[in-house]
Amino acid sequence: MDSLKVAVLGAGVVGSQVVRLLTEQKSELAQRVGAPLEVIGVAVRDPKRSRHGVPAELLTTDASSLVAKADIVVEVMGGIQPAKDLILQAIANGASVVTANKALLSREGSDLVLAAEKAGVDLYFEASVAGAIPLLRPIRESLAGDKVNRVMGIVNGTTNYILSKMETEHATYEDVLVQAQDLGYAEADPTADVAGHDAAAKAAILASLAFHTKVTIEDVYCEGITKVTDADIIAAEEMGFVVKLLAVAERMGDDAIVVRVHPTMVPKSHPLANVRDAFNAVFVEAESAGELMFFGRGAGGAPTASAVLGDVVAAARNRVTGGIGPGDSSYAELRKLDISHARTRYYLHIKVADRPGVLAKIAGVFADNDVSIQVLHQDGRGSDASLVIRTHKASDAALAATLSGISKLDVVDSIIGVMRVEGERGE
Ligand SMILES: NC(=O)c1ccc[n+]([C@@H]2O[C@H](COP(=O)([O-])OP(=O)(O)OC[C@H]3O[C@@H](n4cnc5c(N)ncnc54)[C@H](OP(=O)(O)O)[C@@H]3O)[C@@H](O)[C@H]2O)c1
Repeated sequence: MDSLKVAVLGAGVVGSQVVRLLTEQKSELAQRVGAPLEVIGVAVRDPKRSRHGVPAELLTTDASSLVAKADIVVEVMGGIQPAKDLILQAIANGASVVTANKALLSREGSDLVLAAEKAGVDLYFEASVAGAIPLLRPIRESLAGDKVNRVMGIVNGTTNYILSKMETEHATYEDVLVQAQDLGYAEADPTADVAGHDAAAKAAILASLAFHTKVTIEDVYCEGITKVTDADIIAAEEMGFVVKLLAVAERMGDDAIVVRVHPTMVPKSHPLANVRDAFNAVFVEAESAGELMFFGRGAGGAPTASAVLGDVVAAARNRVTGGIGPGDSSYAELRKLDISHARTRYYLHIKVADRPGVLAKIAGVFADNDVSIQVLHQDGRGSDASLVIRTHKASDAALAATLSGISKLDVVDSIIGVMRVEGERGE
């Protein structure tokens, strides 16, 4: 059979590894696909810069002309534009598209899915969430006959690395961030990671697939790790917990979902607690399948390229056999509720006056707002007196009202720490 023409847009961390693998595994891939894959060009901004593993003669700055000649377009340039227009151009041309672009998918994914559906071409994006980990295909295909109720996981390696180091080295967020930047685990501008935006983009993509509903990053509650203190980490440790940045997407009743990203205390006995450093792991709970966990490298050139190549082979096989793979649907149109509807447990650390009657006043505010206390203990004496409280499940709205009520009490000096708690069974 004639070769399939592959255009690669971008030759950075991921793109250069994609080209390397397509070149090194050429004959193997031809066997698996049933036709040779020919890299016809690699679009970059600066064609003069040499790139390891990418032949200079393949480099071009004319991405659009490259796309026009391709059967399969691999978009690994990132950003919204020109990536979006190039993908739409590819789709309009009848090419299959593979992308790792979570920023684009989490904002404009439904436009792309719709365009691909109309044109009858594949649009695959396994690498956009959790790097090398096969996650989207299992959700889309293996669980197609089940009902996913919840997806919860660690989907950002940079923040997991920072939180792991804060835990093991008892270092501050600021110190660990500098260390992470020196070691290449964090970008010079780490905002997208530490503010939770990257995890929120992935949460939107996961939720869209899991719940057959159009979910964008705007629908995701997002709180990063910049306010996590060493005191929070120590408090978690003393209670037998660790702090993780979790992405959680879950059903609320029959017709709604909440999608959220925030620092979370997780019991040490929970499998997610042992996911350390730059690794990712995602828990999927489905009605019939029960709990499933996916674990592996969530980023990096070669691991991400592995996921991209998997998509390229799938799209190429479909072209060889004719037809397209299963697409993504948003038929369910579940309502997307805001964070106030989420139900979790909470940890609170409150600096209080050391005198009789304090507990009764604070417990009264919890009761008034229907937030039930699970564990309470007093720490320190005199001016160091504080209360550590863990609650049973309550809505975020109830917790917000409780915090507001507590902060107005004359026996309360300040609220030192508040964090959501996940991973315990029951209410
Ligand atoms: N890095 C990871 O571990 C990882 C993991 C999962 C998903 N992803 C996703 O994969 C994509 C690529 O990430 P990356 O880390 O490989 O990025 P990167 O290292 O910054 O590489 C981007 C590449 O795209 C090229 N490029 C950017 N804008 C362009 C334009 N307007 N025209 C032509 N070429 C352009 C750049 O060219 P120059 O080299 O000439 O500047 C560069 O080669 C992103 O969507 C990212 O979110 C990355």
